[in-house]
Amino acid sequence: MSEILDRLAGCVAIVGSGLAGLMAALTLAPQQVVLITRSELGAETSSAWAQGGIAASLGPDDSPDLHLADTLAAGDGLCDADVAASIVREGPAAIEALQRHGVRFDRASDGSLSLGLEAAHCRRRIVHVEGDGSGAAIVRALVEAVLKTPSITVLSGVEVRRLLMDGDKVCGLLCATGSGAMTLPTARVVLATGGLGGLYDATTNPVGNYGQGIVLAARVGAMLADMEFVQFHPTALDTVRRPLALVSEAVRGEGAILVNEKGDRFLASEPGAELAPRDVVARAISAEIARGGGVFLDTRKMFGAGFANRFPVVNGLCREAGLDPASDLIPVRPAVHYHMGGVATDAFGRSSVAGLWVVGEAASTGLHGANRLASNSLLEAAVMGMRAGHDVAGTSMERPRQISGTSLPSPADISPVQPIVSRHLGVLRNAGAIHGAIASLLPLVESDGAASDPALVGLLIAVFAALRQESRGAHARTDFPLRFAYAERRKMCLNKVLQIARSTASHPLARSA
Ligand code: SIN
Repeated sequence: MSEILDRLAGCVAIVGSGLAGLMAALTLAPQQVVLITRSELGAETSSAWAQGGIAASLGPDDSPDLHLADTLAAGDGLCDADVAASIVREGPAAIEALQRHGVRFDRASDGSLSLGLEAAHCRRRIVHVEGDGSGAAIVRALVEAVLKTPSITVLSGVEVRRLLMDGDKVCGLLCATGSGAMTLPTARVVLATGGLGGLYDATTNPVGNYGQGIVLAARVGAMLADMEFVQFHPTALDTVRRPLALVSEAVRGEGAILVNEKGDRFLASEPGAELAPRDVVARAISAEIARGGGVFLDTRKMFGAGFANRFPVVNGLCREAGLDPASDLIPVRPAVHYHMGGVATDAFGRSSVAGLWVVGEAASTGLHGANRLASNSLLEAAVMGMRAGHDVAGTSMERPRQISGTSLPSPADISPVQPIVSRHLGVLRNAGAIHGAIASLLPLVESDGAASDPALVGLLIAVFAALRQESRGAHARTDFPLRFAYAERRKMCLNKVLQIARSTASHPLARSA
């Protein structure tokens, strides 16, 4: 290992092997990079679990402007319109780049790309690979491309626990390996560590993902943005399995309906019905469940026995749960699926910390605003992975000074954090619950124990949620049900968040929660 480390010292380090990290590594070739991943390359990533595909305006009736309009409408007033415009415009080029790396998108009988429909899109513009197995197929092709690229060294089974700093610049990574601590000197780090669903009991994300990239960046002072916006996918398969299996929105896009236990189509009068924005559908389902009812997807009439062919992955997940979508109703519930907030970056993935780029779900570019449009996440991951790759390639390699004496934090323990975050920071929020979360999470953060890192991410969500005294997008407050006429994205660094948390934790509302 020490020989490898010597060779890699000073190279660009990419942390995470979902779509964004893989694209960054491939874009940087032939520049030497080290790609660090906690498990096997591409495994345990939300990208590989994606059933939806990639949104791009490719149809003859579509345009980047229409895609942008849908993105801004879903984002509920909080998108950065310039960033969003530039990312959706690059959609078609990103699809071409993925094809060059070996991704084979599904095609119609005339040879053109098949375009699917998902909620809140006004046109069919979702490209898939192997139907609802899109994420797995895309990641598989890119992993193959990475393994064939000699300039990329993969370190798997390595977890980055801290960024090392030389003054205000990144100078290395402190990592845990199977054989102890390891430091990797580098002045250029790209974080592509994914989301934070593991903080919640009900999630469709890999359960080990609790926002590691946010922790790494926050602890060295990076600006964070939009942390309160956690997206609940309305239709996770409601079983005891953890993480919950997803029933793709494409199923509703192709005509499946939602009914309650009485057989009522409770979304029928909502604009867009089952294809209303995700937050609207998630709240309607939560309300049905909260009144003691159940919610089901009915795919029987629309697909019958054809379901298995059209949605092989969802069909397999239902079969595992003892259900046959051709003849059974599919029980569903909302579950955390995506985090719109994260480390604030510019349009090239640069964070506010010198030498630190952040891409994919760990970042907050402003594309998603208060609520992500379906299938814009893989789009963003591909575009921003490439952009950060190009941007980093334009910087020069410097061998940073060796840092010693930093001790390795212990492995994270999510268990004390998950019940607090799940209970207080869910689909519906109010001041009592949010303040209660702050009061419970702050001591865990300050204890510096094994729960400190996941608690820090929960605390960031809670403090941002406390400050947003309105309902907007995925952030719904029962005590502030209205939306301000005007609102801005909020950006803060950890010191400021801790200051607010300390004063909030002593508030009577927090003590009584
Ligand atoms: C889905 O297939 O419903 C998920 C798509 C997405 O989250 O973008």
